[in-house]
Order: sequence, then C-alpha cells, then structure tokens
Amino acid sequence: MEKKNIDWSALGFGYIQTDKRFVSNYKNGAWDEGVITDDATVVISECAGVLQYSQSCFEGLKAYTTKDGHIVCFRPDLNASRMKDSCERLEMPVFPEDRWVQAVVDVVKANAAYVPPYGSGATLYLRPYMFGSSPVIGVKPAEEYQFRIFATPVGPYFKGGAKPITIRVSDVDRAAPRGTGHIKAGLNYAMSLYNIVDAHNKGFDENMYLDPATRTKVEETGGANFLFVTKDGTVVTPKSSSILPSITRRSLLYVAKEYLGLKTEEREVYLDEVKDFAECGLCGTAAVISPVGKIVDHGKEICMPSGMEHMGPVTQKLYDTLTGIQMGSIEAPEGWIKVIE
Ligand code: PLP
Ligand code: COI
Repeated sequence: MEKKNIDWSALGFGYIQTDKRFVSNYKNGAWDEGVITDDATVVISECAGVLQYSQSCFEGLKAYTTKDGHIVCFRPDLNASRMKDSCERLEMPVFPEDRWVQAVVDVVKANAAYVPPYGSGATLYLRPYMFGSSPVIGVKPAEEYQFRIFATPVGPYFKGGAKPITIRVSDVDRAAPRGTGHIKAGLNYAMSLYNIVDAHNKGFDENMYLDPATRTKVEETGGANFLFVTKDGTVVTPKSSSILPSITRRSLLYVAKEYLGLKTEEREVYLDEVKDFAECGLCGTAAVISPVGKIVDHGKEICMPSGMEHMGPVTQKLYDTLTGIQMGSIEAPEGWIKVIE
C-alpha cells in the first residue's frame, strides 16, 4: 500500500481530512450496524441535543507503525471502556465495547495510507465521538445518537516536541468535585477554551488546574494528567476523583514499576510541594510525555531542576520505554498492543 505524500515530520497536532470514517446511528433503542464512509460531513436537526445542551463525549487514541512494519493501536479496549463511563454519566447509549474496538480497527485499515511511517515522529490519531442528534428542547437526553470515528495524522501536541514547556497555575477551575471531570465530555473542554486562549496570550503553553474545593492540590491540565519525579527518583501522580483517568498515566505507572524498577505513588499532590520535585511532565495520548520546565504561580516561578532544554532523566526513560512499547521495539505487557495489520 502506497503512503500519502505528506511531510510527516512537519506535522503538528491538527486536522487533516482522511479518506474514510466510521458512522453508526442509534434510533428506536438500538445501534445500526454502522458503515465506513467517504462522507466527512454531519447533517443533524437544528435542535439536536448536542447543539442545545452539549450532549457529547469523545475519545482519543493513536495508531502506530512498528519497527517491523505492522500497524498497531495502544490499549483501545481502555478507551472503549472509558467512553462507556462517559456515555453512562451523560445519559447516552453505550456503543458495545467489542464493536467499538472493531470500528477503530476498520477505520485504521481504511486509512492505512495515512498511518505515518516508523521513525517519522508522527502517528495516526483516532477520534471516536458520540453526540445527541435528535431534537431536544426541554432539558433531557436526546432519543437518537450518532457515533463516529475519524482519523487524522498528527505530530507533537506542543510545538517544539520534546522541549520543556511553561505552564501557569490557573485561576479558573476545570471540574467540580462531584462533576464531570472524570469523563471525557465535550463540555469539559468548552469551559476551558477561554482559559487556554488567555494562557497562550500571556505566553504560557497550558494551565495547571487545582482542586476547586480547596485550591491547594494539583489536578491536571486542560488535556493531560501530571507526572512528577521526586529527587530520589519516585514517580508521583496526582490522585483525584475529578481528573480524567489517563490511559497513558496508568500505563506509565506500570512501566515505571515493572520495567524501570522505580517506586511509584498515586496520591494527593499539594501545590506547595511542587517546588521540591526534580521533574514534571504532562502525559496523555496527544501529549505523550511533554516535559514541564517552569510553572508560574501568579508571578512566582517554580523552575524544575531538569531545566528548559531537555527532559529530565527519569521522564526520558519513561518516554523511551512507553514509545518503545507502542512502536514495537520493546516487548509490551500482555494485551496492550492491538495488531491491525
Ligand atoms: N486529561 C485530559 C483532560 C485529557 O483530555 C486527556 C486526553 O485524553 C488526558 C488527561 C490523557 O488521557 P489519555 O492518556 O487517556 O489520553
Ligand atoms: C488526547 O490526548 O487524546 C486528548 O483528547 C487531549 C486533547 C488535548 C487532544
């Protein structure tokens, strides 16, 4: 199969329309069998639930070309299961998890020409999403839904790739203690747009959100979980019921412990103790692990000892091991890699 003529190494994290996508509709209490289609447009009622009350959720995962030339996905079963949690919280019908994973496989196969080559630094990002498509005017769930998956080749989420970024402590909260922070609802991102534009305008790459109840604990950023490394090499990640349970973060904790023999802790992390860590990174499907060099708390700068030039040594080892597993140069734990072709 011939690859598309794309300058893979120049890609940023943006949308490029690819050839095929998956679409399934939910009507009269059942999902139809779904189809792979060329049609990249969506036509819905002016009064659709998603347009009125933001009834939507999504996922993000990637397909990789491995060293030996296969195309694989990383733990798609966990994305399917997290989308089930999102749907249940938003009164949306669950798309069966086995069919969900199969639809991902079908979309990747149908767009194989867009899967970036091994070593190019790019990957194929898959965006499964669901929304209420039928008219809703009183505040209630829609009766009909659409589930779609499209694919787009992407490069690094942050410009500069592996260069450390600067973030700021946010004054705006992301998710209420018993709200929707733990699911991947579109509304969580809508509320963060003002804040990310403001952060960018002021020269910051991302926002560090704190727990809204006490504003003393680190939660996550707009699009990734945190990972810290202590001066004695323990990997620490914040524990909170209002952050998204990142698949990357959960995988990295396993990698840290089982592959690298490091101590790991998932616990509450106080803003006050961040200055004592040796390394900080953002982890997620899009972010992979993006090193944080500086955190600005209302004019007070916290400069990570790992500096603004390179990832810290532990972050680098985690990065190399995770990406090695994803791209087939390091043996993966049982069940982590779904071979597509
Ligand atoms: N936190 C938020 C708010 C996100 O949007 C994402 C991206 O999916 C993550 C964390 C990382 O999650 P994952 O590693 O499953 O991609
Ligand atoms: C992902 O990492 O897949 C996300 O959904 C995060 C978003 C910032 C692109």
